[in-house]
Amino acid sequence: MPKARIAVLISGRGSNLQALIDAANDPGFPAEIGLVISNRPKAAGLERAAKAGISQETIDHKDFETREDFEAALNDALKIAKIDFICLAGFMRRLTDGFASDWRGRLINIHPSLLPAFKGLHVHERMIEAGVKLAGCTVHFVSSEVDAGPIIGQAAVPVLPGDDADMLAARILEQEHKLYPACLKLLIEGKARLSGHTVPYTNDVAASGAVTNPPTT
Ligand code: GAR
Repeated sequence: MPKARIAVLISGRGSNLQALIDAANDPGFPAEIGLVISNRPKAAGLERAAKAGISQETIDHKDFETREDFEAALNDALKIAKIDFICLAGFMRRLTDGFASDWRGRLINIHPSLLPAFKGLHVHERMIEAGVKLAGCTVHFVSSEVDAGPIIGQAAVPVLPGDDADMLAARILEQEHKLYPACLKLLIEGKARLSGHTVPYTNDVAASGAVTNPPTT
């Protein structure tokens, strides 16, 4: 079976991009990364793409007057690269309803919280301030609302006594790097399917590694 072609959209460091690159290097993985797009010219993740020999493009949102124009440029690049699925990986730009619905079921995001709690920015600081005892990350289909949409998989981690935001972020990030490839694989293999506003929790999803509880000590 031909591999699905993935575009990864980034804005920064690209550690989740790296996790997807590493996963796709496994010959058994059902996807190849066909394109990396950054909306920021200096995103460190672009280096990772270059190193892996993956086509990359900077499409700077500041060069466009409207979100629609920016997204039209994204769509042109995605079409030329024959992209089947899009992974947002630290892509810090809200997408319009139109873009989200054009790519419905083929556009996913990762966020460093157990959604629907703690959408948005400064998530780790806000979790520490709120005194939560469990944190984690979520991979979900993208809707036009920021950090919302049907949940594919989640990994939970404990918040430990004495944690600061950076310590918690590092613990969550380690899980992000496992969760994202696991969820992408589920999606491509047709085992994570949209049904209305949710992805039904099937045995396939449960067995895939896309749902992880914190270790008990
Ligand atoms: C990751 O923690 C990702 O979950 C988060 O940005 C970081 C990007 O890191 N995404 C969001 O907050 C989306 N709302 P990375 O560039 O090293 O992958």
